[in-house]
Amino acid sequence: MLKNKNIILGVCGSIAAYKSAFLVRLLVKAGANVKVILTPDGANFITPLTLATLSKNPVYTQYFEEETGVWSNHVELGLWADLIIIAPISANTLAKLATGICDNLLTAVYLSAKCPVYVAPAMDLDMWKHETTQNNIERIIGFGNTVIAPANGELASGLWGEGRMAEPEEIVSFLDNAIKESMPLYGKKIMVTAGPTYEAIDPVRFIGNHSSGKMGFAIADELAKLGAEVTLIAGPTAQKAGQRLRRVDVVSAREMFDACTSVFPESDITVMCAAVADYRPKQIATQKIKKQDSGLVLELEKTTDILASLGAVKKTHQILVGFALETNDEENYAKGKLEKKNLDLVILNSLNDTGAGFKSDTNKITIFNKALERTVFDMKSKTDVAKDICTAILKIAK
Ligand code: CTP
Repeated sequence: MLKNKNIILGVCGSIAAYKSAFLVRLLVKAGANVKVILTPDGANFITPLTLATLSKNPVYTQYFEEETGVWSNHVELGLWADLIIIAPISANTLAKLATGICDNLLTAVYLSAKCPVYVAPAMDLDMWKHETTQNNIERIIGFGNTVIAPANGELASGLWGEGRMAEPEEIVSFLDNAIKESMPLYGKKIMVTAGPTYEAIDPVRFIGNHSSGKMGFAIADELAKLGAEVTLIAGPTAQKAGQRLRRVDVVSAREMFDACTSVFPESDITVMCAAVADYRPKQIATQKIKKQDSGLVLELEKTTDILASLGAVKKTHQILVGFALETNDEENYAKGKLEKKNLDLVILNSLNDTGAGFKSDTNKITIFNKALERTVFDMKSKTDVAKDICTAILKIAK
């Protein structure tokens, strides 16, 4: 689970900082990219050289390194991280996290980061039991952080009790499990289609549509974040796919059909978001069609309905999700497509809703399930719509 994850390890002033060396080692061994931020007091307990050698990365201690003139950008570091683990976290840094005090690089990175944050406290038992510390713990949990509880045992003071930092092996397995839980689609293979198709008329012209691909790309990204192995089959679009996706580029409906039929048998879940052309020119001119005095009649033939053909061969363990883009009698058409194409969910887009459909950054959807139960959603950003679609998929995925 930790493989290729970008992890910031914060190390504070506590004797347990010696265990951070083992923690770095275990994280690196698990395949993570680790960058260590040492607080000024942390540097009294363990040297940057030890942590830099083990993490194979420079250790960050302050915003500005006078000798090298290097400025550490806390915002960039925060955004780089897939997760932050502060181990050990002292009572002092805990209090700073609880109140937003931001007087060193670690606390600035914490405030800038958008990723999950885990803390493993280490302190003497009375400091740990103190009402202030316990209030601070409650507060940072309330902010969405996760506390890896300290253990009972002999403390540096010679006293016995709660306050020993969790062992590095326990921290690593805690993180591993937490990531697993945040990835309910781990191990699932998912195919998503996105964008328009272009149907050639001659070497320079085509019939296409206004689909931007934004919705399909957002869905593919969200599904990958939930742990799925996503293959994104994309028509011509300027969208950039996230690193986690396997992207297959196609141009025409025929190419999309070929790509889909080869990936579908291995797919547990399929989401067909592409705006596939329903018709293509019957003949593609090999030379550019020259302008004539008279009009031009193009004969079109039907393309294969990819979604319907996948629905026809779908196995019971496979989930198939389709879209319905409508301008009138929307709900009936959407329900008709659900049944006719053998879908598990249909996502209705009505072009009558402002902010819905092609090109815009927002969308408004209604989802119907197999029992024809309807869930209506507000207008949202396409990223949030993608999250709603993923939630609906999760409800029916085993
Ligand atoms: N679709 C497909 N292959 C096609 C046409 C559509 O796979 N040749 C899929 C789309 O990706 C979408 C669903 O079918 O998931 C519905 O597409 P839509 O354009 O709304 O409807 P159509 O089935 O094409 O019917 P109509 O154009 O008559 O509304």
